[in-house]
Amino acid sequence: MTKSVWGLLAGLATLLAVLVTAPSQQSDLWQFLGRFHPTLVHLPIGILVVALALELAGRYFGAKSVLGSVPMLLLLGAWSAIVAALAGTLLSNWGGYQPTTLMWHRIVGLVVVVLAVVAYALRRQPGPPNGLAWYPITAALLGVGLAVGGHLGGTLTHGEGYLTDNLAPPLRSLLGLPAKTNLGAVPTGNLDSAPAYQALIQPMLTQRCGNCHNPDRKSGGLSLTNLTDLLAGGRNGKVIVPGRSAESEVIRRIWLPPGHQDRMPPDRTIPIAEAELIKWWIDQGAPDELKLAEMERPTAVRRILDSYGLDDLATGVFTVKIAPADSAAIASAQRSGLRIAPIASNSAFLAVATSGPLTAASLDALKPMAAQVAWLDLAGTAADDSTVGRLTILRHLARLSLQNTRVTDRGLEGIKDLGYLEYLNLYGTQVTDDGLSALHQLKRLRSLFLWGTKVTAGGADSLRRVLPRLDVSLGLEAVSDSTTGR
Ligand code: HEC
Repeated sequence: MTKSVWGLLAGLATLLAVLVTAPSQQSDLWQFLGRFHPTLVHLPIGILVVALALELAGRYFGAKSVLGSVPMLLLLGAWSAIVAALAGTLLSNWGGYQPTTLMWHRIVGLVVVVLAVVAYALRRQPGPPNGLAWYPITAALLGVGLAVGGHLGGTLTHGEGYLTDNLAPPLRSLLGLPAKTNLGAVPTGNLDSAPAYQALIQPMLTQRCGNCHNPDRKSGGLSLTNLTDLLAGGRNGKVIVPGRSAESEVIRRIWLPPGHQDRMPPDRTIPIAEAELIKWWIDQGAPDELKLAEMERPTAVRRILDSYGLDDLATGVFTVKIAPADSAAIASAQRSGLRIAPIASNSAFLAVATSGPLTAASLDALKPMAAQVAWLDLAGTAADDSTVGRLTILRHLARLSLQNTRVTDRGLEGIKDLGYLEYLNLYGTQVTDDGLSALHQLKRLRSLFLWGTKVTAGGADSLRRVLPRLDVSLGLEAVSDSTTGR
């Protein structure tokens, strides 16, 4: 065998070694290299397709002169396939992909690499080499492998149906695909007269989940495109428990961390606002007939409706126009233990919560998106006064949850300039009457939760005098405020 074939075999051996050992590799460098896979993978596809096309042209269409370049192209194609597969292996170990599709994509990808190496080994001489009978079979399989592997890769990144989603309706019906529903995630129906389920909830489920969960393609035995199917559930039984979102499989799966194999949708994140609305609708008993105005709307839900322009409160930070945050910075912050999602599908503002212990690194990771963070939930974390001191850079913060943290009066100094703050939850902290003076400048503050703090009724009253539109909840009223949506 020639040197070039030995070289390829060494490359292949390296790939196999990484495949076997890489699951334990979680370093940033691996992840960085892995991200080149989607770009790199176009090299072997392009080169090998050209090699196969020239081969056909030379053999069957009389273009003999092109045959001489085929071995060189196969060699290049095989090497680039090895490199792309290496990067792909690093990327896939990072998680977040639909597991079955990923498994098949990896198998087919590996087969393509092996076929490319074999094809080159059989075809490295310009003249008729030994074993030529095997070559056409290998080349044909290689062509098929490239098409299948590429399609699976596209499905991984873009979701099922990415090839066919934009087909014109007549072509869709010709191919037997379901008619496309054109409802966007942002509701378009008339919310005054239509039931909330029909105008608000179903369009989101159809948009976010309908590709894989419809009467024709019931992934997991579940269709989500109408209420009857939704209530019927999937392979493993009911997926919603009316009135109890915490026990509903749909909610459990939506809120799982990225990379978890049960997470839905498997390959992307639905905006927190939409997840909250679905949760709220289930908690309201999953009504099919009630209109928005007939349902209880907690403050958080009103804010979301507001950000869609659906409530009468279109004010505050959501009127500010900002550019979206850098997606690489978001991904890196997510890796540092934060859960980050757009507040609404059409908004650059972000909702941030912790998905693990709060660290200094996770706060640092927010710096590149300081202008975009509008909601921050640090409830129950190790956040203390110095943590809050570092939040001053989040100048568009509208909602801050600090309940059950170690924050004291000193910490409140850190938020006194957050002019867009509308909601502040200090439940179960050590805050006293003295600390409240730090809030005097927060003219937009509408809801303040002080239950379980050392603040007295007198202290709350003096704050109300400075901020007359502020709703201060000291005790049991805190409960009623969060459920009546005043
Ligand atoms: C890209 C395709 C895809 C999308 C989009 C998707 N799912 Fe799924 N879903 C699947 C597959 C595949 C399964 C079966 C495998 C499994 O159980 O994880 C499944 C299973 C489920 C199940 C479990 C059903 C059962 O009884 O086992 C639930 C619940 C679910 N999905 C909810 C959702 C929700 C809610 C959305 C939208 C927010 C969604 N899915 C979006 C592919 C998808």
